[in-house]
Amino acid sequence: MLQAIQNATTGLRLTVVMPAVFQKLCIIKCPTSSTCFPLKDQLDALVKQSGFKGANPKEDTFVAGHSLGATCANYVVQGYSYAFAGLMEFGGYVDMTGNGSVANFSIPVLHMAGELDGGAARPGKLSWFYRQMREYEKTHSTDVALTRKPVQVLEGLDHSDFCPGFFVTKVKDCKSEVTQEVALQRIGEGASAFLHLNTPTPATTKTAALTTMKTMLEFTSEMCDPYLKAFELEQSGSQGPWCSKAQPIIAGLSEKDLAKLTVSDGGCDLVLGDLHQFEHFHTNYTTTAEGGLSVSCGAAVEEPSNTLNTGSQVAAASIDCKMVDATRIGQQMNVTTNASVECADINRMAVALAESMISEKSRKRYQEKGRKYCFKPDAHAFGNIGPLFIQGKLTSKETAECMEVTSLGLISTISSAIYPGNHYCKLLSPALAMDWMMTDSHKPFPYNSSEAATIMV
Ligand SMILES: *[C@@H]1O[C@H](CO)[C@@H](O)[C@H](O)[C@H]1NC(C)=O
Ligand SMILES: *[C@@H]1O[C@H](CO)[C@@H](O)[C@H](O)[C@H]1NC(C)=O
Ligand SMILES: *[C@@H]1O[C@H](CO)[C@@H](O)[C@H](O)[C@H]1NC(C)=O
Ligand SMILES: *[C@@H]1O[C@H](CO)[C@@H](O)[C@H](O)[C@H]1NC(C)=O
Ligand SMILES: *[C@@H]1O[C@H](CO)[C@@H](O)[C@H](O)[C@H]1NC(C)=O
Ligand SMILES: *[C@@H]1O[C@H](CO)[C@@H](O)[C@H](O)[C@H]1NC(C)=O
Ligand SMILES: *[C@@H]1O[C@H](CO)[C@@H](O)[C@H](O)[C@H]1NC(C)=O
Repeated sequence: MLQAIQNATTGLRLTVVMPAVFQKLCIIKCPTSSTCFPLKDQLDALVKQSGFKGANPKEDTFVAGHSLGATCANYVVQGYSYAFAGLMEFGGYVDMTGNGSVANFSIPVLHMAGELDGGAARPGKLSWFYRQMREYEKTHSTDVALTRKPVQVLEGLDHSDFCPGFFVTKVKDCKSEVTQEVALQRIGEGASAFLHLNTPTPATTKTAALTTMKTMLEFTSEMCDPYLKAFELEQSGSQGPWCSKAQPIIAGLSEKDLAKLTVSDGGCDLVLGDLHQFEHFHTNYTTTAEGGLSVSCGAAVEEPSNTLNTGSQVAAASIDCKMVDATRIGQQMNVTTNASVECADINRMAVALAESMISEKSRKRYQEKGRKYCFKPDAHAFGNIGPLFIQGKLTSKETAECMEVTSLGLISTISSAIYPGNHYCKLLSPALAMDWMMTDSHKPFPYNSSEAATIMV
């Protein structure tokens, strides 16, 4: 891979050094940004040995890493005060927030990962960083964003295409759809474009590099833009939260009556903070003119786990909704409603929406090869006790046939003694469904348990 980058880098003399590390795990020598000196010392010794005579690391030295090595590269750069010309993250990424995020990284930083990366640098996670590049583009320009903070998804590559001959994620990677030669060529093109843009190279070389970045961005957008739209459904604002779409369905109204139901304030209220705050949220309703009804509903988002920034998901683990139930809506609007609509019906809608949003290429792969979704009837919180609903979870179980989803619901009709007229659901996020279609649905299942013990890097 390093040779491919060297070959593609023209107009400047690129010396490359690579440290050998115990167990192929640099993280042992660089577990945090403040304890990275064993790795940094080794790198310095290698640079010296190479005969490279640099003037100033801030102008002539780039740090790069792949996979967990990308984490080490990020630590080296941050631990040594960003005193480098740039950072290259392959199949990995920098911090999600703060000074070490793409948004605030003080030196140029490149991200490149495979369309079929099955680990934590999958398109669904890379989209988080891609969004920061897009935000930066708004306040700067496309050219500046693509020079200083490019985030690119490489078509057809998997995670291991960055390290030929070494299958990194033995058990759970997706399968590459390009030859090793093509993979290396794509990596070389992207990395060299970044180097050309951030070193003193002739104007024509820079122009060509920007063209390369822009061409790559077209594919990246195709992969990441659907995620940004899906993430919006988890956020407050005009597009979200997803519960605002669920409430009218849960109402079980006929099409004619549905027009008379409005969700007040333009959508369910997103309750931030821990779920304890959400526990205290209660729905409400007021009748409006001509037999209409305005309801207020609540939403909360359960964050995915992300221990030490190694989590593969950005999408919510579930979107929790507190809605007015069909019996209350029927009573208030004086119409017949269908009280049998389940949370699972909303999940079916989430899956259909995700499928319609992904690129045509991804959709075709999913339809032809991916394991699909299947839905169990809703589970119900014991005794319809609100706090037990809050503590419960949306469950997802991977099987050889499908991803089996069971929503947790709570129905308290108007004849109920406690908080009558409510319907609660823990729902599948369309962004999470999207990630299944793009990535995990394509993994070989059942996973080879004799290899499962192999460390995932
Ligand atoms: C790099 O270029 C050299 C010399 O042309 C060639 O032998 C080698 O195969 C190339 N390596 C890669 C990975 O492109
Ligand atoms: C970047 O830094 C600013 C100022 O400290 C902060 O408000 C913002 O949240 C940071 N961006 C990210 C993505 O963390
Ligand atoms: C982030 O960067 C700002 C500006 O350079 C600095 O003042 C601040 O101390 C940094 N924050 C952390 C947590 O390092
Ligand atoms: C419901 O809404 C009405 C009218 O806006 C308000 O007076 C009442 O306090 C609300 N009830 C609850 C439980 O929030
Ligand atoms: C409710 O609807 C029924 C049937 O359409 C009608 O007979 C009744 O008068 C209505 N009640 C009220 C309070 O509007
Ligand atoms: C009520 O909704 C359920 C769930 O969507 C559906 O299966 C059923 O057919 C509906 N019943 C009527 C009478 O529309
Ligand atoms: C599972 O992994 C072991 C160890 O690498 C290997 O010997 C075996 O053939 C694999 N089994 C399957 C079904 O791929």
